[in-house]
Amino acid sequence: MNKINLSYDTLWNISCKGDFEELKSSIYEEKNKDEHGRIRSNSGGWHSNDVSNNNNFQHIKNFIESCTKEVHKDLEIIDNLEFKIDDMWININNKSNFNHIHDHVALDIPAPKTRIIKSSILSGVFYVECPENSGNIAFYSSSKRKTLVDMNFLKNPGNNYFHDINTMTPKKGELYIWFSDLPHSVMPNKTDDDRISISFNMSLFPIQN
Ligand SMILES: [Fe+2]
Repeated sequence: MNKINLSYDTLWNISCKGDFEELKSSIYEEKNKDEHGRIRSNSGGWHSNDVSNNNNFQHIKNFIESCTKEVHKDLEIIDNLEFKIDDMWININNKSNFNHIHDHVALDIPAPKTRIIKSSILSGVFYVECPENSGNIAFYSSSKRKTLVDMNFLKNPGNNYFHDINTMTPKKGELYIWFSDLPHSVMPNKTDDDRISISFNMSLFPIQN
């Protein structure tokens, strides 16, 4: 039998400069209003409800959507469709908080009538505050494969079939975008400071003229 090696995925990344103080104030204001938020992949920390239609977050939403034009071009998507954010939430991880391995495919977001595909296509994260040692983000080739490692089902978890883990150290002002089915996790925050990020899902919509 022949074996063909596949490179498993792509991560798009861009950095922007700024102190994001105004954005941070809006984030803490939102946290005060919605203390419980929602529980998703997070172990501890605060995960907000959807803020994609909240006026205080339109600036960052527009910035992310404008960055995605390059991904649209890379993927050779037809011209009358565009990527738009249809779910966006804030994550604040404090000491020892982390995010379990997950992907963004099966989220229970009601599909707007104009959306072309029901599930999101692209997902990503923008780092508002990311102190050193506050938690790397890890990307895996497949969550099922990670489960085999986690369950101790392997004689040698470091063998060539199971070493496809890419760990990134994000920095303040960085934006990462990936395909929504790419499994990822966030390592524990080892500091006493808040690690603040804004995550999102995007789908394709017809361009409105
Ligand atoms: Fe995620």
